[in-house]
Amino acid sequence: MIGMGESRKQVGVLGLGRMGAALAGALLEAGHDVVVWNRSPLKAGPLLDRGARLAATPEEAASAEVVISCLSTYDAQRPVLAAASPKVLVNLTSGTPAQAREVASWASAEGIEYVDGVIMAVPQGIGTPQSRILYGGSRAAFDAQREVLSVLGEPVFLGEDAGLPALHDLALLGIMWSTMAGYLHALALVGTEGVTPSTFTPMALSWLSAVSGFLPGIGEQVASGDYATDVSALDINAAGLGLLVETSRERGIGTSVPSAVKELFDRAVAAGHGSHAIASVIEEIR
Ligand SMILES: NC(=O)c1ccc[n+]([C@@H]2O[C@H](COP(=O)([O-])OP(=O)(O)OC[C@H]3O[C@@H](n4cnc5c(N)ncnc54)[C@H](OP(=O)(O)O)[C@@H]3O)[C@@H](O)[C@H]2O)c1
Repeated sequence: MIGMGESRKQVGVLGLGRMGAALAGALLEAGHDVVVWNRSPLKAGPLLDRGARLAATPEEAASAEVVISCLSTYDAQRPVLAAASPKVLVNLTSGTPAQAREVASWASAEGIEYVDGVIMAVPQGIGTPQSRILYGGSRAAFDAQREVLSVLGEPVFLGEDAGLPALHDLALLGIMWSTMAGYLHALALVGTEGVTPSTFTPMALSWLSAVSGFLPGIGEQVASGDYATDVSALDINAAGLGLLVETSRERGIGTSVPSAVKELFDRAVAAGHGSHAIASVIEEIR
C-alpha cells in the first residue's frame, strides 16, 4: 500500500496479457488509480473487480499521469502508441535496442517523456523482491516515476540511451537460454541410463553455482585481453566437448547443443588459442 509521503498516482496500463495484467494488479495492490486498456476488453474483468477502470480506447488510458505499455511486440504496439499519445510513457514491451531507440525518437518528436524498460521476471514475480526491471531513456522521467515503478520490481537505471535495457535483456536471456539448453541436453544424456531429473538436478545446481564462480575471472580476462591460464586451457576443453558429442551420438540423442559450442571452441583453437583460457573464445565470437 501507499506509505507515508508517497502519492497515489493515476497510471494507465496498455496491454493486459499475462505480464500487463500482473503489472496492473501490482499497481492496484499498491493503491494506485489504474486505468487499463486491452484489445480484448474481456480480459480486464478480474482487474475491474479489484478497482481498475476500463478505458474504451488507448487514448483514454493515456490521459493518466504515466502510461505503462506491455504488448506482445513492437509491431503490435506501434499503432496503439500512435493512438494513445501519452504524456509520460514507460515501455515494457520486449524488443531490440534498435526498436527501443526508434520509439524513443518518435516519443521525442511527439513531446512524450520516454522511459524504456525490460522486465527480468515472470508475471508471478511482479511486485515481489525477486522482480527486477532495467530502465533507460529519460533520467528525469525515470526519477519522477521511480516510486510507482518500484511497485513492480527493483528499478535499475542503466543510462539515457533507450536501447540499453533491450541490449541487457537479450544478453541476459542469452545466458538463460544457453544454460537451459545445456541442462536439457544433460537430462537427455543421463536419461539414456535411467537417471531421473530429480536425481540429477541437485548435482546440476551445485555445479552451476561452481561455474558461476568462474564468471568474474572470465570477465576480467575479456576486459584485459590477457588470456594466460594455469587452470584449464581451451584445447582440453575442446577435446572434452568432443567426448560429449561422441557420447551423445553413441547414446542416440541429438548433438545440436554441444556441437554448436564445439564448433566455436574448435575454431578458436584453430585460430591459435589452444593454450589460452576459455575467455579467448570471445575473439572468435567477435
Ligand atoms: N510473460 C513473461 O514471463 C514476460 C517476462 C518478461 C517480459 N515479457 C514481455 O512482456 C510483453 C507481454 O508479454 P505477455 O507474457 O503479457 O504476452 P501475452 O500474454 O501473449 O499478451 C500479449 C498482449 O499483447 C496484446 N496484443 C498482441 N497483439 C496485439 C495487437 N496486434 N494489437 C493490440 N494488442 C495486441 C494482447 O492483447 P489481447 O489480449 O487482445 O490478445 C495482450 O494484451 C512481451 O513483450 C514479453 O516479451 C513477458
